Amino acid sequence: MDRKQLVDRLDAIEAKALEGGGSERIRRQHERGKWTARERIEALLDPGSFVELDRLVTHQCRDFGMDEQVFPGDGVVTGYGKIDGRLVYVFAQDFTVLGGSLATGHASKIVKLMDLATRNGAPLLGLNDSGGARIQEGVQSLGGYADIFLRNTLVSGVIPQISAVLGPCAGGAVYSPAITDFIAMVDGTSYMFVTGPDVIKTVTHEEVTQEDLGGATTHNAKSGVAHFMVPDEAAMMALLRELVSYIPQNNMEEAPRRPTDDPPDRSCPELVELVPVNPNKPYDIRDLIHAVVDDQRFLEVQSQYARNIVIGFCRLNGRSVGVVANQPAHLAGCLDTNSSRKAARFVRFCDAFNIPLLTLVDVPGFLPGTAQEYGGIIKHGAKLLYAFAEATVPKVTLITRKAYGGAYDVMSSKHIRADLNFAYPTAEIAVMGPEGAVNIIYRHELASAEDPEKRRKELVAEYRAAFANPYRAASLGYIDEILRPEDTRIRLIQSFDSLDSKRERNPPKKHGNIPL
Ligand code: HXC
Repeated sequence: MDRKQLVDRLDAIEAKALEGGGSERIRRQHERGKWTARERIEALLDPGSFVELDRLVTHQCRDFGMDEQVFPGDGVVTGYGKIDGRLVYVFAQDFTVLGGSLATGHASKIVKLMDLATRNGAPLLGLNDSGGARIQEGVQSLGGYADIFLRNTLVSGVIPQISAVLGPCAGGAVYSPAITDFIAMVDGTSYMFVTGPDVIKTVTHEEVTQEDLGGATTHNAKSGVAHFMVPDEAAMMALLRELVSYIPQNNMEEAPRRPTDDPPDRSCPELVELVPVNPNKPYDIRDLIHAVVDDQRFLEVQSQYARNIVIGFCRLNGRSVGVVANQPAHLAGCLDTNSSRKAARFVRFCDAFNIPLLTLVDVPGFLPGTAQEYGGIIKHGAKLLYAFAEATVPKVTLITRKAYGGAYDVMSSKHIRADLNFAYPTAEIAVMGPEGAVNIIYRHELASAEDPEKRRKELVAEYRAAFANPYRAASLGYIDEILRPEDTRIRLIQSFDSLDSKRERNPPKKHGNIPL
């Protein structure tokens, strides 16, 4: 062969790889409102930055006529590129090639990519669109999945792992995303389930649509499996780029600072009246977050699930900060099983990746009742306690109103190593609310009182004056400063600045035993 023939040969093989499953299957993919693997990567990364690896890998299966169905690349596009100039590794399953199903060639490409991402300390982004294990390859496909699950686990907390679900994600295909740090789904075109509607009907006679079983709404609002829901693929790529911007490259680095024109000493007069003095009146804690953070920009995580707690990323004077906030506008901000698990996982993510934590507290306590007790609120509430207690990143806490009972301890109190604790003048910090406390400690007196209702009111007023405020806690040093609400932004920025060089380590151990 002469030089031209050699190059022609390469061109021909590459052209076949770039075709994916062919124009007809690509047309069907587009008809469903879905992009191809290459279109997704193009939209995700900085223009021209993608470098592909393993374009020519194929499967080795010769059963079921598979020797006739060999596609260079084997149904997944892998490589590296940049987001805002920062290195990321990305794989995108190609549904037009054998339904994006996973077999040995496909799996080995993802495994190689994961190893490279780990060695080079850069985030791994998976764009999932797959019919699961390639049925023709049998147990080798299962082995391929397990090779990926193992790496997902070993690098958890070492490099950030983010999963976009952009089509079906069936069978074992859900477990790799489940181990990763974040899952984002597209409304209407993405599904995740361990067993599909047909199998469910056969086994349990239950009839359910794909959408109800494992659509984006199901996993964002009901199961809590997913963290984000977006209307289309363009929004997905924008979301992934934004999410990555808050996160460091790996566990040895810090998140990049993003310069802002929002002045660090900006007063927040809108906060003066935000928290109602009446403890029974709700307000939206997100108003406080938006008022305080840089450019009002807050990326809320799991916004539809366990809405009594709000979690997400913001910046304060350019520094990436994870926010955990009770939400008085939903269930009065009570902690329950779902909100405890939701917040605990987020706290652990931030701690693993050196992202400081801001905790906003307005919590009447743990939600009482048999449903919660039978559901294991003790175990799940303990997860949040454990997560805050073990976290060694800078921790700043602001009590805006209620901080009662165990929930006071749990919500990043001074006692579990918060660095700086603030309270507004509206704060109420005590073992329990005035009504409950009076009913218990004055039970005998009230029983024999001439006018029990009148006496109860007096006692509640006395208790409120004495205990339903932040001053007892401040006198003990549990609160560092009673903060005027308008000073919130400047004081939070000063606080995180002062904690920049924080060094704290937990005792050496193999790993703890979080109450799972
Ligand atoms: C091989 C597959 C495939 C698979 C789809 N295809 N899934 N090929 N193995 N698992 C192929 C189809 O044959 C078809 O090929 C093309 O992909 C598109 O599939 P369609 O069925 O036409 O598409 P659609 O109607 O959109 O349905 C998509 C789907 C469905 C919902 C994903 O294909 C499906 O149910 N597939 C099987 C899902 C499944 O049970 N997977 C195994 C799970 S078990 P052509 O040539 O026509 O384009 C598992 C175990 C792992 O994953 C355990 C690890 C712990």
